[in-house]
Amino acid sequence: MSVMKKTKQKKYTKKYKICVIGAGHVGLVAAACFAELGHKVICVDKDKKRIVELKKKIIPFYEPDLEPLVVKGLKSKGLVFSSSLPEAIKKSQVIFIAVGTPPKADGSADLTAIGNVAHVIAKNLNSYKLIVGKSTVPVWTGKKIKETIHRYKNNSNDFDVASNPEFLREGKAIYDFFYPDRIVIGVESERAQEMLKDIYASVKAPIIVTDINTAELIKHASNSFLATKISFINAVSKVCDLAGADVEKIALAMGLDKRIGKDFLQAGIGYGGFCFPKDVEAFAYISKKLGYDFGLLKEVKAINEKQWFSYVEKVKEHLWIVKGKKIAILGLSFKPDTDDMRFAPSVDIVKAFIKEGAKLCLCDPQSLGEARKEFPASGGKKNKVKFTKDPYEAVKGADCLCLLTEWGEFKELDLKKVKKLMNYPLIADGRNMFDRDKVRQIGFGYIGMGK
Ligand code: UGA
Repeated sequence: MSVMKKTKQKKYTKKYKICVIGAGHVGLVAAACFAELGHKVICVDKDKKRIVELKKKIIPFYEPDLEPLVVKGLKSKGLVFSSSLPEAIKKSQVIFIAVGTPPKADGSADLTAIGNVAHVIAKNLNSYKLIVGKSTVPVWTGKKIKETIHRYKNNSNDFDVASNPEFLREGKAIYDFFYPDRIVIGVESERAQEMLKDIYASVKAPIIVTDINTAELIKHASNSFLATKISFINAVSKVCDLAGADVEKIALAMGLDKRIGKDFLQAGIGYGGFCFPKDVEAFAYISKKLGYDFGLLKEVKAINEKQWFSYVEKVKEHLWIVKGKKIAILGLSFKPDTDDMRFAPSVDIVKAFIKEGAKLCLCDPQSLGEARKEFPASGGKKNKVKFTKDPYEAVKGADCLCLLTEWGEFKELDLKKVKKLMNYPLIADGRNMFDRDKVRQIGFGYIGMGK
């Protein structure tokens, strides 16, 4: 393994014809950003409707700053969209695989889409190609891709397989692409290494060059470690609740120790999204399969799942009778600046309140489309679910304001106005976003997570 040093850096200037397979969060962002770096990019997806819309500059999900990049790429023709995978493969020198790896019932990653793509690549290998895994995958996926292509290719054209895991966060994806903490490339040949260094030449970040297995494991280990940090502080928050201590001060003091670091020590209702929950499980699964029982990760998951449950219990305890009470839910996405509600703790919390017979008004700046699909407003007359983008509308007549996602606009709320609008002034702060003392001064009851 080596870290590329600036002094040794040779000039990497080549631009490539790149195919990005998958126009989801990882693929579409990578495609738009590679085009911005000057490469010629074809972004392919089997979802024809998505491709038709992308050609019309309609972005399928909310991601700040993505739309202007896509528009710019389309205008310059550095970025094109296609639903023909064979054609896109044939036209490209480098192929990034960014298809989904959803969780299976047993916790393992479903690699069907990757297997299918490898097969199509094999059948369309009309020249040397570098095939790069970008999706988060269990260790040995690169090896399997290589075996599949060898098995099904019907000519003598050469190819390389590499791993280049993506570390971008939803909501900050464009920034993370251009300013990453590191770029990891797992390769088996000098040629593949040089090509990937060319591709990322204008992104200033340390490059970690390693073998493919190690690169794949770096991604699983990184996500699982971050999830562990969150579950650790959430476990501490439980002790704080019992001891009457303040988890925020503990996180602040712990985080100032450079060996610990301040990030990912925010206690709350737990992590969600399409990455941490599935990756923690998939890493535990593959470790077990390899012969190591990663019990720590099972506990990380268990702590996370208890967080939303104990939040609901706290609210129930304060409201005493939940049936018929009006609850305003502020925030549905798994974190701010995204409309993504996949595996969001809000989904479990809303379902729990519906089951209790509460009347809910759901509010989120971006996720209402997703929310309407998840909770059709048909829970019977008594449990009718309402939706609004306006937080002041949501809290009207409410007996409790449940803050589940720390969106910027919720931080700016005029709490005196909120108090006047509510039937009973109670804030259940699932993200420890509000200043507890200030909120209490205004006259609210306050429920925090470990404070
Ligand atoms: C995560 C990683 O941070 C990225 O590096 C990685 O590339 C990505 O997964 C992926 O594998 O594709 P993301 O899922 O977009 O990114 O979201 P994060 O910002 O990491 O947040 C994950 C969850 O943890 C959110 O629900 C957030 O609310 C929660 N969280 C985060 C906490 O509860 N406490 C914290 O201190 C930090």
